[in-house]
Parts: sequence; structure tokens; C-alpha cells
Amino acid sequence: MRILVTGAAGSIGRVVTLGLCDRDHEVVGLDLVPEPEGFTGNWHTVDCADADAVDAVFDEERVDGVVHLAGHPGEAALPASLTSHVLTTAALLDACVAHRVSRFVYASSNHAVGRTTRASLADGVLSDDALPRPDTFYGVGKVAAEALMRLYVDRHGLDAVACRIGSFLDEPGSLRALSTWLSPDDCVRMVEAALTAPAPGFAVLYGISNNTRAWWDLEPGRRLGYQPLDDAEAYAGRVAAAESDEAEAAHVGGPFAGEEFYRPALDLR
Ligand SMILES: NC(=O)c1ccc[n+]([C@@H]2O[C@H](COP(=O)([O-])OP(=O)(O)OC[C@H]3O[C@@H](n4cnc5c(N)ncnc54)[C@H](O)[C@@H]3O)[C@@H](O)[C@H]2O)c1
Repeated sequence: MRILVTGAAGSIGRVVTLGLCDRDHEVVGLDLVPEPEGFTGNWHTVDCADADAVDAVFDEERVDGVVHLAGHPGEAALPASLTSHVLTTAALLDACVAHRVSRFVYASSNHAVGRTTRASLADGVLSDDALPRPDTFYGVGKVAAEALMRLYVDRHGLDAVACRIGSFLDEPGSLRALSTWLSPDDCVRMVEAALTAPAPGFAVLYGISNNTRAWWDLEPGRRLGYQPLDDAEAYAGRVAAAESDEAEAAHVGGPFAGEEFYRPALDLR
């Protein structure tokens, strides 16, 4: 497939770009910043929130699908979060419709349901039908981006997969990450499955590895063909206990559910 990867210069974007190329896909890169050293395909230095600029990229490139990874991966004031996650998604979805690109894969986040308490989960497992329950304005942005994807699936018949990523890291470094870790190799497996699953319509999966301590449901991903192979348990011996472990275990979103993130929505400092 020929894939437009947004945020291709970022930490997940670089791994996904290399991984898709290794699997014989062709990647067109897009980011706010110029291409990383070694990138050999077509590149567009563009703001995804700029609908005209995004449309011009689609005019120039014929792609079969979009992997939308561009966005600020943390908390911000509400307007910045909405721009980073919702407006970028909107510009890309509009371009998909206008240019008949039918597959859209999005780096959503566990923080879309981050305020869900572990104690409230049936059988202790977080399922893909958990109601939106963001833990931050970042999470609100992810909820809204997922809602937009669903709207475009319903209106225009796109196939759109929201990958609620856990902790994308070279290796897990905390007790929480022993459950929520997504290895770089599994991340590529996840994205490729989301790109190639037959007719998913709108679907949500949890982007974690095959972790022994996982309590987020891997079945929605497996139904789409995502077969994670790595397990954070291999690193458990290197993870030291921390004072924050208990508080981080209370909610899906871990530390993002903590009071240090409470701030007014329009506090732009
Ligand atoms: N890293 C994680 O563990 C994690 C977990 C859950 C979700 N995610 C999501 O995955 C995506 C990628 O995260 P990451 O960790 O690679 O972040 P990153 O900051 O390393 O990379 C993001 C990239 O997007 C680019 N970018 C930001 N805004 C843009 C815009 N408006 N237009 C074009 N490019 C833009 C940045 O320049 C950067 O290269 C984000 O949407 C993030 O919310 C990440």
C-alpha cells in the first residue's frame, strides 16, 4: 500500500515509517518539521490543521490510506488540544473524502477513557465499548477525534480504526507500563493490521503488547488481525517499585488522572 504517515518525524512516526517500508509498503511522510535523516520517500513539511495545505498534499500524492500520528502527545490547554487532535483529524478526513481515500488509522490514546476506574471494570478488563471518559484536555481531544472518525464512517463509508495506544517505549520503565507497554515492533504490527483489516468500518483497539499483566482487552485488536508478540514481563526484573505505583493503578490513564493535571480549560499560560 502507499500510505500517508503524518507525524512521521515523531517517535512513533519514525518507527512506523521504517516498519511499513520494511514490510514493502510505500510511505509518504508529513510533519511540521523536515524529514529525518535517512528518509527517502516523498515528504511534506505541512501543518495538518491547515486544511488547504493538507488538501494540496492529497492533490499531489495518490495514497491508499492515512496513518495519522501528528499531534502533541501530552496535556495542553483545551484550544491547543482541540487544534492538535480534532482539527488535524478533520482536515485529513475531509481530504480523504474529497480524494476517495478510504482507510484512516489514528493514534488515539488510553486517555480517551483514562478516568475509568479499574475497580469499575467488569471482570477487571477494559473493553472497546468503554464509554468516553477522558482524564485530561488531551483525552477530550482524543474522544472528539474518535467521534469525528465515527461520523465520517457513518456519512461517507470510510474505514477508520482508532488505536488507543498505551505506553509506546523502547522498554517499560514503571509498574504501570508492565501492563500498558506497546513495543516498537508491535506498534508496526498494530498499524499494519489496522491498515489492512477487511472492512472494519469504525473500530477501536487497545495498542498494547502481549503483556502478561495486561488488563486492557486485546481481542478487539486480534479481530482486526493485530497479533502482538512482545511482552513487558521480559523487563519486569529491571522495574523498581515507586511510591506512585498505587495511585497510577487506580485509573486507566494512570498519572494523567492525578490532581496535578487539574487546570482551567482556557488557561493558555
Ligand atoms: N507516545 C505514546 O506513548 C502515545 C500514547 C498514546 C497516544 N499517542 C499518540 O501518538 C501520536 C504520536 O505520538 P509521539 O509519541 O510519536 O509524539 P511525538 O511528539 O514524538 O511526535 C509527534 C509528531 O507530530 C508532529 N506534529 C505535531 N503537530 C503537528 C501538526 N499540526 N501537523 C503536522 N505535524 C505535527 C510533530 O512535529 C512530531 O514530529 C500522538 O497523536 C499521540 O497523542 C502516543
